[in-house]
Amino acid sequence: MAAPLGTLVFYSEFDDFDTWKHALQAQLPALQVVHSSAVARPQDVHYAMAWKPPVGFFQQMPNLRLIINLGAGVDALVARDDLPPGIPITRITDPQMARMMAGYVLFAVLRHARDIPYFEQAQRRGEWAYRHPRAPHEVTVAVLGLGQLGATAAHELQRQGFRTLGWSRSPRRIEGVECFSGMESLDAVLGQADIVVLMLPLTPQTRGLFDRARLERLRPGAAFVNVARGALVDQPALTELLDSGHIGSATLDVFEREPLPADDPLWRMPNVLITPHLASVAIPESSALQIAANIRRVAAGLAPDNRIDASRGY
Ligand code: GLV
Repeated sequence: MAAPLGTLVFYSEFDDFDTWKHALQAQLPALQVVHSSAVARPQDVHYAMAWKPPVGFFQQMPNLRLIINLGAGVDALVARDDLPPGIPITRITDPQMARMMAGYVLFAVLRHARDIPYFEQAQRRGEWAYRHPRAPHEVTVAVLGLGQLGATAAHELQRQGFRTLGWSRSPRRIEGVECFSGMESLDAVLGQADIVVLMLPLTPQTRGLFDRARLERLRPGAAFVNVARGALVDQPALTELLDSGHIGSATLDVFEREPLPADDPLWRMPNVLITPHLASVAIPESSALQIAANIRRVAAGLAPDNRIDASRGY
């Protein structure tokens, strides 16, 4: 029998505990995996795998060695002031999660590129409203944020034949994608795009980056897709620009406040598609491999992979 590895505590309101427990124990049979509501001996907990745990969560466990963010974005975690100092934090960077995200982005971009929102509205009016399709190369898509998720999505979009622009903080190269970097090029990228896809991490530098002035840089009638974080965008300005038609349509998976309040005007806008923050999720079977590898590393006294830099914010 393998030597015990200690205990991992799990917390998420959105992910299924048993599925994760089985996926982790398939990799690490010697690991105890317990739900946060059933921790008998907090001093035995070495690993915490959590998505948006309550305030004070980590402080109950004096012997923590690793915090595993149960997702790609770490903004909610690094913004907390109750993190135990010096404990490494990792995030999930899983190719399967990137595929799931690329699928959502592809769906949203194809929907806008093929004017499906226009036909949906025409159908509701019982109208045969012919609008000649644009060829893929006539449609320019800008992917803002070229981390693992953004780069995978940009790659898929260029495979579809769209003219694909990519923008990121530091320079990147993706075959078939015209890549730009640095704040000085952002407005020029926005001004060329028929469809803008937000895939940036939320950091102190990107919070509110898409304010009214910047949103007004979008081409009249452009489509806007946000699968990143709501707080990147001035939501009231976005709503007004969608209402005026300056922004033609939007697919929004993330919002300033989640759940999006029932009285928010976005719910009732015919040119807006809303999904409840699920464009991509952490996938147990594939993510468990990297989580298990990191637990083995930490148990052996090594630094984990995919460690985040809390000061950088991702
Ligand atoms: C979801 O939004 C994530 O960051 O994993």
